[in-house]
Amino acid sequence: MEVLGDAEVLAERAADLIGDALREKPNLSVLVATGHTPMATYAELALRGLDASRLTAVQLDEYLGVGEDDPRSLWGWMRRSFVEPLGVKQVVRLGDAPDPDEACRRYESEVAALSGIDLAVLGLGPNGHLGFNEPLCGPGARTRVVTLTPASLASNAAYWGDLPVPSRALTAGMDVILSARRIILLVSGSHKRDILARALREPPTPEVPASWLQGANTTVLADRAAWGGAQ
Ligand code: F6R
Repeated sequence: MEVLGDAEVLAERAADLIGDALREKPNLSVLVATGHTPMATYAELALRGLDASRLTAVQLDEYLGVGEDDPRSLWGWMRRSFVEPLGVKQVVRLGDAPDPDEACRRYESEVAALSGIDLAVLGLGPNGHLGFNEPLCGPGARTRVVTLTPASLASNAAYWGDLPVPSRALTAGMDVILSARRIILLVSGSHKRDILARALREPPTPEVPASWLQGANTTVLADRAAWGGAQ
């Protein structure tokens, strides 16, 4: 657990850790969250001139029924914020098969073919979700189709202006996330205080999916605003 002064310092620290991991292992496989929190980290990483040509970026989640040209496509967001700015050439996508169950199976086998995930870069949902692993969710939950909770519909509405938030999504399973060899959880802002405190303090529970991170190799990077109530 590291507490950083503000979102900018947090992004610099996260970029340091990701950059170090990439220098150590040029063919790093990285599970890549979208959402607001990691955007400053990705922008900072892109400024550092790292060679990410052998990195494989693995998608964390996607809305169901949203094509890649739709402005709400999470693949599109990941491409614009991470894949293109860093010059990433290999990606594992979630949701690029017409049948969602087939897309999940394909994803799981592509992740297995990579020998798993080296590094997961995650944000914390306002209800404790990781990816779209919504409460209630156990640590063994597989990659699957989920229905978004009202809390996630509300937080995701902030991303898309007037466009409605799709009600269903595909998510990497908790099993994929928790088997990552290293996890960096980025948490910024006072609106995350209570849920961060629960994720860190409560015994792991399906009510707060992020609490399962307690049993994984997790580094939590929180800014002071997010950490305030967690002390
Ligand atoms: C995004 C994702 C979500 C977000 C979480 C936090 O791909 O999987 O779990 O990481 O909802 O979102 P922000 O960072 O916007 O607060």
